[in-house]
Amino acid sequence: MSEQKSYGLLKGKRGIIFGPLDESSIGWQIALAAYREGAQFAISNVAIAMRVGTVAELAKQCGDAPVFTCDATNNQELDETFRQLKEQFGGLDFIVHSIGMSQNIRKNMPYESLNYDWYLRTLDVSALSLHRIINMALKNDALNDGASIVAMSYIAAQRTFSTYSDMGDAKALLEAIVRSYGSRLAARGIRVNTVSQSPTPTRAGSGIEHFDKMFEYAQRISPLGNATAAECADYVTTVLSDLTRKVTMQNLYHDGGYSSMGITLPMLDLVFNALKDEGRAERSGLPPIKGE
Ligand SMILES: NC(=O)c1ccc[n+]([C@@H]2O[C@H](COP(=O)([O-])OP(=O)(O)OC[C@H]3O[C@@H](n4cnc5c(N)ncnc54)[C@H](O)[C@@H]3O)[C@@H](O)[C@H]2O)c1
Repeated sequence: MSEQKSYGLLKGKRGIIFGPLDESSIGWQIALAAYREGAQFAISNVAIAMRVGTVAELAKQCGDAPVFTCDATNNQELDETFRQLKEQFGGLDFIVHSIGMSQNIRKNMPYESLNYDWYLRTLDVSALSLHRIINMALKNDALNDGASIVAMSYIAAQRTFSTYSDMGDAKALLEAIVRSYGSRLAARGIRVNTVSQSPTPTRAGSGIEHFDKMFEYAQRISPLGNATAAECADYVTTVLSDLTRKVTMQNLYHDGGYSSMGITLPMLDLVFNALKDEGRAERSGLPPIKGE
């Protein structure tokens, strides 16, 4: 259980959280934080995740939360999930989408030679699934006015990260869906946002080639350091709460300041010294930076 104190931000609120797999998952930490803040919710994941993960354990920790085995790329399964949720909970006040998967990343496929079947699957699982989820929630009249929908994103939607491959494209699509649905649902006071999180050591995160280096780089660049999954979860609870009623169609960075940083002297030093070790600094005629 998170050590953060409860502010009761989600007292009386009901929702569903898609994507907790194990303790490292961002969705798992969101579930713990939402429970701490007083929410009642269901947890959902695919069948394979129920076998390899520890979802039942999380459900127990969250007041015996109902668990729905559901593939978020399958309209029928989503339809049935929201039908049952409507029956059990009445309307929902929040939905969390914490889902992502790329077979191209798992197999280290270079961007230039992606497997197109896997590429389509990446887009479906990681982005279109949000569209399907909202669509099926609306179809079942399962969303309350004023509800908040949050999906997890990464800065590779805006900038190129060489090993993030087709997931960067999926995140760009995910953020576009957030804007498109956000504008359409605003009349009912329903908000739709993404939270763009620091690199986080989860199953999906650690599957990215050179994840450790990406993590370390972001850690050094971010003035506040990388945000943990638990810190992300605390932030997400505020976006699910009534305290953020006029925030919609946004991509909200939760990254220790990484997205606003340019150059820092310590980073320049590191780069310069590395170049010097290779004898390239002298050849380039660069002046020394510090302590030379
Ligand atoms: N880890 C990071 O560095 C990082 C950074 C920014 C954003 N994110 C995003 O956070 C979200 C959660 O990922 P995570 O890092 O916690 O990893 P994770 O592996 O714990 O969670 C990903 C989840 O997606 C689920 N999933 C895959 N296919 C599915 C399907 N068809 N239907 C339903 N669920 C499916 C998996 O079972 C898993 O539970 C993802 O959107 C990810 O891109 C992660």
